[in-house]
Amino acid sequence: MKLKCSSAATPRTSHLHHSPITLLLFHLCRSELRCEDFWHDWKEQLLVAASASLSKSPADKDAEDQPERITKTCQQLECVCYGLGPFASCVSARYQLAMLLLLLEAGQIPLKDCSVYDPVFSSGERDVLRDLGLTVLSENEEGKRLVEKPTFFYLMHCGKALYNNLLWKNWSARGLPLMIIIGNSFTGMRERTIEKEFKRDYSYISKAVDFSVERKLACPSHLIDVFNDTAVITFPSNSLNGLPQSTWAESPEPQYQHSPDLEIILKETRS
Ligand SMILES: C[S@@+](CC[C@H](N)C(=O)[O-])C[C@H]1O[C@@H](n2cnc3c(N)ncnc32)[C@H](O)[C@@H]1O
Repeated sequence: MKLKCSSAATPRTSHLHHSPITLLLFHLCRSELRCEDFWHDWKEQLLVAASASLSKSPADKDAEDQPERITKTCQQLECVCYGLGPFASCVSARYQLAMLLLLLEAGQIPLKDCSVYDPVFSSGERDVLRDLGLTVLSENEEGKRLVEKPTFFYLMHCGKALYNNLLWKNWSARGLPLMIIIGNSFTGMRERTIEKEFKRDYSYISKAVDFSVERKLACPSHLIDVFNDTAVITFPSNSLNGLPQSTWAESPEPQYQHSPDLEIILKETRS
């Protein structure tokens, strides 16, 4: 079964944008995912990453494996989801939304603390997200969100520019460890991109790939198009503290002048 989002393959028929139907389809996806074994792996990996990221004192570290404590620390996480896609018409995006809600529930992260944005969302889709209790952003941040507290980013199959912008905005030994990303493997991106272009256009991913920690997430074969090539990516302070100061010294804003097929929708600029 092919589940990739494509506006050609999945015409955005108006009845599918009707909120109650979309909500019903979403609930079906969530019930289905709940019965799958692999989602428990996602839950565990997120909780462990969150616990490591939020633990400050050695006493916290000793308590890392206490489930109650882990969940308590998760509640302090903020969540940002970019690039979910048109989930009213795209089955893949709908499953990804269902997984996001399961993860928020597992971590007891309040739904209002999860902000979602995709420039392709229809007004019906924005209504559904609000009905679910999520916060819908109105501004295209281009992924350039400055993190002030531990934050879980959910970027499923997003363009490299979105990840690169996010890394740029938080490019410091203090900022990066605050982020937990569930998204495409940086190692996979490096393998699939011509080295010269990867270093030139996506310099922040290209550098981060050497010191970030990636834990591959399980994906069953029948949902390969939805959840493949996904990892929990973290930036442990201890690996960052050993890096030379020059790592952080020059960090120009990404421009992408040479990128032929930029997989990001940029902010509309007023003329
Ligand atoms: C390859 S699609 C992935 C869609 C879906 N998650 C999937 O796996 O099929 C990339 C998504 O990123 C979204 N996107 C592009 N620019 C964006 C931006 N500036 N902020 C948030 N999302 C963006 C696109 O609209 C698109 O839905």
